[in-house]
Amino acid sequence: MRVLVTGGAGYIGSHTVKALHTAGFEVVVFDNFSTGHRELVMGRNVIEGDLMSKHEVRSAFSEFPCDAVMHFASLIQVGESFRDPQRYYTANLISSLNLLDGMLEAGIDTFIFSSSAAVYGDPEDVPILETHPLRPANPYGQTKYFVESILQDYARAYGLRFISLRYFNAAGADPGGELGELHEPETHLIPNILRSLLEKDKTLEIFGTDFPTPDGTAVRDYIHVSDLAGAHALALQKLLEGLESGVINLGANHGYSVREVIHKVEEVTGRTVEYREGPRRRGDVPVLLASKARAEKWLGWRPRHSDLETMIRTAWEWHRSRHPRG
Ligand code: UFG
Repeated sequence: MRVLVTGGAGYIGSHTVKALHTAGFEVVVFDNFSTGHRELVMGRNVIEGDLMSKHEVRSAFSEFPCDAVMHFASLIQVGESFRDPQRYYTANLISSLNLLDGMLEAGIDTFIFSSSAAVYGDPEDVPILETHPLRPANPYGQTKYFVESILQDYARAYGLRFISLRYFNAAGADPGGELGELHEPETHLIPNILRSLLEKDKTLEIFGTDFPTPDGTAVRDYIHVSDLAGAHALALQKLLEGLESGVINLGANHGYSVREVIHKVEEVTGRTVEYREGPRRRGDVPVLLASKARAEKWLGWRPRHSDLETMIRTAWEWHRSRHPRG
């Protein structure tokens, strides 16, 4: 079985490529390397290509006939999506449409999509079930919501078979030390805390201390990136075995506040985290917490690395290994 993985040089994509190899799939990575990194790509089949070009998508499928596609490539920064929605809608929607066109033309009907908890917006109830109303609170989340709607329509009309995986907060790094997070600029909490310990010019800021949560900081559901990666391999196997199309949350069903994460980093690293308290970041909701019941039931998925300590320890090992002052 051969799988084309767009964005296979990115953070979640690269960990998933590793999981797919382990599960016995042949992988072809398709990436434009605008934010991905060559050093994170495992395997020999790599296409440097752009999803905005129908022609490049078509040639990828003719060079490497595939049985399934996983689509990670996407712009992912919420703040930037408010400042430049045109770029987000264009990149995230046109690339997905071109990819789906290429699949239909090549007769490939199996698709795994990287969606996000951002499709829920500010939830009415937590833990969030997949049936919760969808009200994205930012243009980035809207793009994920729109692609999910397209998938439902394509499934009905063209027999597309898909699973859309709604990630909560991906964290940590490959326990084998081969892969990790390399965003530039980095906007995520755990790498920002760790980088504030390693880089002189980086100070951590807590975005909002007046949320309606026990300690005033926002609560998130962090999930280890290798657990996310494993869920993709499982979703693909199940889809190929006949699982119905649908959407599945990927979260650990544990919530941690920003302050709790900072304390755990201090415990794991033995260092003191300096920070300043600032205003809320636009589009941040107070609490995101996943129900993982469907992932357990449909995929038989059990997160193995998603306790906060392991996520921070593996991320810390990765960041230190890449940093001269580590
Ligand atoms: N935070 C800080 N300081 C930082 C970085 C983050 O206080 O330097 C706070 C944020 O305000 C938020 C929490 O830490 O309350 C987590 O922030 P992240 O940026 O790590 O993650 P988000 O919850 O904002 O974003 C994640 C995904 C997005 C997705 C979003 C909503 O990265 O792709 O969840 O589902 F859109």
